[in-house]
Amino acid sequence: MEIRPTNGGCGAEVAGVDLNALSDAQVEAILDAHAEYGVVFFRDQELTPDTQLAAAERFGPINVNRFFSRVATQPRVAEVLKEAHHPNNIGGGWHTDHSYDQLPAMGSMLYAIDVPAHGGDTMFANMYKAYESLSDGLKRTLEGLSAVHSSRHVFGPGGYHEQRRDGRYENAEQATQDAVHPVVIRHPRSGRPALYVNRAFTLHIDGWTVEESQPLLQYLYGVGGRPEHTCRFRWERGSVAFWDNRATWHYALDDYPGETRRMHRVTIDGGELSAYAA
Ligand code: SIN
Repeated sequence: MEIRPTNGGCGAEVAGVDLNALSDAQVEAILDAHAEYGVVFFRDQELTPDTQLAAAERFGPINVNRFFSRVATQPRVAEVLKEAHHPNNIGGGWHTDHSYDQLPAMGSMLYAIDVPAHGGDTMFANMYKAYESLSDGLKRTLEGLSAVHSSRHVFGPGGYHEQRRDGRYENAEQATQDAVHPVVIRHPRSGRPALYVNRAFTLHIDGWTVEESQPLLQYLYGVGGRPEHTCRFRWERGSVAFWDNRATWHYALDDYPGETRRMHRVTIDGGELSAYAA
């Protein structure tokens, strides 16, 4: 097995591995690369919904997303689908999965079934580098703060997806849980500080109003998405991206009108996030 950092601000390609036949040593090496580079990419994998689930389970217990449509033959696998009639794609903005949960998911494993001839790439942004690029003064300020995250405005009744009624989401009534997480977390595996706010699910700084929070949050979103913190993955059928939700954001590009893109996603459990203190 070979792990080669990709060009850009995050990511590594893992070559010479079959996700259907992972050794214990490979699992540990992949988890180390996942925590270090934020996202690992695999090519030419042959996965069914059942074997993708089995591969993901090698990295931790499965966390079934309660809002995404499920694959008919394996309801623990989520479908990430855009067809010609859909008004927009899924995940088309910077976010990290499950930050609205009190115990956010550790990682997400996305497998490409059908990809458009052009477009449909996914971008990733490195939250270690975003934090490191800040001044010492702002780092110290952020280390004392927590932020409130929610799924209600995205997946809940009357939220963004329900207003569009495109049938790709379910269980809006389960969007009840808000969560408070440190703005700078200590990554549970690498021990490194990472910025942990995101444009999709972070509502405000804990104890501040939305209005007071917005200037600071918008500044941090701008820093996170700077080109030098990002990388971009071009999908082929059989490609897998396995990203670390504590170390990266991701953004699915919606630039393939009239074409179909079908992916299968399995999400892996994480745990409580602790604050980083220098
Ligand atoms: C997601 O946000 O989970 C989907 C990412 C993608 O489809 O590239």
